[in-house]
Amino acid sequence: MFSSITMNHSIISQSPKETLALGHKLGWGLRAGDVLCLDGNLGAGKTMLTKGIGNALGINQPIISPTFTLIREYVTSNGRPPLYHIDLYRLESPEALASLGLEEYLYGDGICVIEWAQRAQASWPAETLWIQIDILSDTMRHLIFETNDSYLATLPHTYLQEQIHYVSGH
Ligand SMILES: Nc1ncnc2c1ncn2[C@@H]1O[C@H](COP(=O)(O)OP(=O)(O)OP(=O)(O)O)[C@@H](O)[C@H]1O
Ligand SMILES: [Mg+2]
Repeated sequence: MFSSITMNHSIISQSPKETLALGHKLGWGLRAGDVLCLDGNLGAGKTMLTKGIGNALGINQPIISPTFTLIREYVTSNGRPPLYHIDLYRLESPEALASLGLEEYLYGDGICVIEWAQRAQASWPAETLWIQIDILSDTMRHLIFETNDSYLATLPHTYLQEQIHYVSGH
């Protein structure tokens, strides 16, 4: 997917709670202008991960997948960046994509999280964190992280370190 991948990493999530916690961890590290593209089938856990990110940003409203509007904006009141939650599942055509005005969000002052991002492959900035979620069983998910951005590449590692500390009791 990238000409130079600086990070390719994978994590197993064993429960919805764990995916939520992973989103929360990622959310703490995200900065204004960061873009996360989520890939994965229906029910993989893309919205679950986004909810965790929203929690970390201090968003109190329930995070639900955008449907007819395709984009939902969540403001924060704590100085953290707003969350732009985009879901392209119902995208009807390339023309509909053009009319969304994605650039305003992607190059704006918020964090963009995009479900079904593969439907608009050419639209994303080079410095994007791609997360592919594969369903392994009812409760297990395989999350694969890819980015060529050196900062975004550090985020899943931070989460893994915490898991290791938790398991070893330090
Ligand atoms: N390890 C797990 N991580 C995340 N979700 C899980 C996990 N195990 C089971 N689930 C269940 O999978 C579902 C994930 O739903 P979610 O809405 O997040 O998927 P989605 O990828 O956003 O789907 P869609 O493409 O329809 O928007 C939830 O019902 C959740 O309880
Ligand atoms: Mg969803």
